[in-house]
Amino acid sequence: MTALDTFDVVLPQRVVVGAGATARLPQLAQRLGLRRLLVVTDPGLREHPAVHAVVAGLEAAGLAAAIFDAVQVDPTVGNVADGVDALRAHAADGIVAVGGGSPIDAAKGIAALALDDQPRDLIALAGFDNVGGRALPLIAVPTTAGSGSEVTRAAVIADPARQIKVPLYDDALLPAVALVDPLHTLTMPPRLTAEVGIDALVHAVEAMTSKVASPVTDQFALEAARLIGPSLARVYAQPDDEAARAAMAFGATLAGAAISNATIALVHGMARPLGAHFHVPHGAATGILLAPVVRFGLGAAPERYAAIARAAGAAGSEDPDGEAGELLVAWLDALTAQIGIPRLSGYGIAPDAFEAALGPMADAALASNGPEFNCREADREQIVALYREAW
Ligand SMILES: NC(=O)c1ccc[n+]([C@@H]2O[C@H](COP(=O)([O-])OP(=O)(O)OC[C@H]3O[C@@H](n4cnc5c(N)ncnc54)[C@H](O)[C@@H]3O)[C@@H](O)[C@H]2O)c1
Ligand SMILES: [Fe+2]
Repeated sequence: MTALDTFDVVLPQRVVVGAGATARLPQLAQRLGLRRLLVVTDPGLREHPAVHAVVAGLEAAGLAAAIFDAVQVDPTVGNVADGVDALRAHAADGIVAVGGGSPIDAAKGIAALALDDQPRDLIALAGFDNVGGRALPLIAVPTTAGSGSEVTRAAVIADPARQIKVPLYDDALLPAVALVDPLHTLTMPPRLTAEVGIDALVHAVEAMTSKVASPVTDQFALEAARLIGPSLARVYAQPDDEAARAAMAFGATLAGAAISNATIALVHGMARPLGAHFHVPHGAATGILLAPVVRFGLGAAPERYAAIARAAGAAGSEDPDGEAGELLVAWLDALTAQIGIPRLSGYGIAPDAFEAALGPMADAALASNGPEFNCREADREQIVALYREAW
């Protein structure tokens, strides 16, 4: 990129990061002119301190709060439709999403459909800029350190009947406010910590090596890698390490801001079909695919892979670019093993079912608006080979 190239960055109006950030909710909701909030979460979080803090804070400020907690992991069009009904029943004028990527993405869908006179099919709005400008204001309170959805213009929605899970990208899906309180993540068990944490690291690497990276997304991605690199194995081993939890929470938010503006690439394009066919969790799928995809791309952007490797602590300043990239691959293999993420063959997938799915998964990856942004583009055969490498 030269000094004359143009780029743009879209972010929430306000991002508050740090212990106690949730206490700012009533004041910031009032500043948005909101009086009646729908709190969107999932059943596992209903009794979580984050949900209690949100509801108590709103009510203490005289704002009306109702809870909708029926969001599934990998939210569906049905969850969004039920949420719209709950929103209308409460006559809500704004939404607070509390949870991981699933409740936040569902809330984005609810916010986008809330103002419709004629109900729209979310799946038909997949891809770039199809949602239209209107949505209810959304405040996102993440409880995982992973998806970064609190600062992205993306939502990923599934339709089980059609066996698809599609991404939507639109400025209307961007939360107005993100309240990132690392203390909410202390309750995550190690498996969840590992899977969502590696997803955040993938966001940093994919943003750094995307064809549409910008100087701003580079800085976000590098700082995210600096924060996440040394912290992920620590929070896996030591869930109550508050400093490491804080680094993960801020790192995941920065990585989300990076990927939202640099777009997802080959890893995410290939990860979704693994979820659709074999229910491999999103973070695990991206984490498993990262090392093979990095190895595949190294020659196309050696200085970018080297920069992210050094930021993450996988390579030192004395390592030349080419070697730093190789060190990144080895470091990723070691990290995923250390945090208990096996290779694909460890997910109970029958080898013949995997072989049979390779072609359709490669087609789905190619159709996903991801692979074309990778620094090195992969064709169908290369994608099949990369899936096999991850087995
Ligand atoms: N919109 C985006 O930009 C974006 C980016 C990446 C991923 N995603 C999507 O996000 C979803 C994954 O989100 P996720 O990985 O954050 O997890 P999630 O929201 O799917 O939650 C997974 C599980 O963790 C539990 N949980 C959440 N926070 C917890 C906490 N603090 N303590 C204990 N348990 C907790 C939940 O109850 C749930 O059972 C996927 O659907 C993925 O497609 C979206
Ligand atoms: Fe992701």
